[in-house]
Amino acid sequence: MFELISNSQQDTKKFAKIIANFLLPGDVLELVGELGAGKTTFTSELCTFLGVKEGVSSPSFALVHLYEGKMPVYHMDFYRFNHMEDLLDLDFERYFYPEDGISLIEWGSCVEAFLPDNRMILRIEIVGDTSRKFILEDSGKGKKIGEELRRCKF
Ligand SMILES: Nc1ncnc2c1ncn2[C@@H]1O[C@H](COP(=O)(O)OP(=O)(O)O)[C@@H](O)[C@H]1O
Ligand SMILES: [Mg+2]
Repeated sequence: MFELISNSQQDTKKFAKIIANFLLPGDVLELVGELGAGKTTFTSELCTFLGVKEGVSSPSFALVHLYEGKMPVYHMDFYRFNHMEDLLDLDFERYFYPEDGISLIEWGSCVEAFLPDNRMILRIEIVGDTSRKFILEDSGKGKKIGEELRRCKF
């Protein structure tokens, strides 16, 4: 597990840049945290560093937004998800097990049973008005990234 305190959006941007450098096609990153924690903010910064030029907004209604960066980026948000049929309509395997792209998932707990076991999990906790705690769990590639991050100075 790797933990980092971000005291500003600028810190969050720097962290997103570092994480972006570790991501490869096929990777799935779940973002966990309460409303307003910063899941979409982090995703947006991450997308920029993945080469996405367009603005990133929460796909609460569409469930998934597709962005063309250095590779395809699939951004999901299951906050408003309540029908399992919607998941089938979504062709979820393509996004939960992306071959060609990177998947970023908000509110994944709603569909947890369908998520890949080897996904990375990044928790975001609200510490104060402008500070957030990022916790990268040891799941999947997160363990190795965490070990490398612990050796870095921020
Ligand atoms: N250090 C920080 N890093 C990221 N966001 C922060 C930070 N401090 C405050 N914020 C604010 O927290 C809010 C997070 O909102 P959002 O990303 O939409 O959350 P979520 O997607 O988790 O519901 C934004 O208004 C952002 O400006
Ligand atoms: Mg959000």
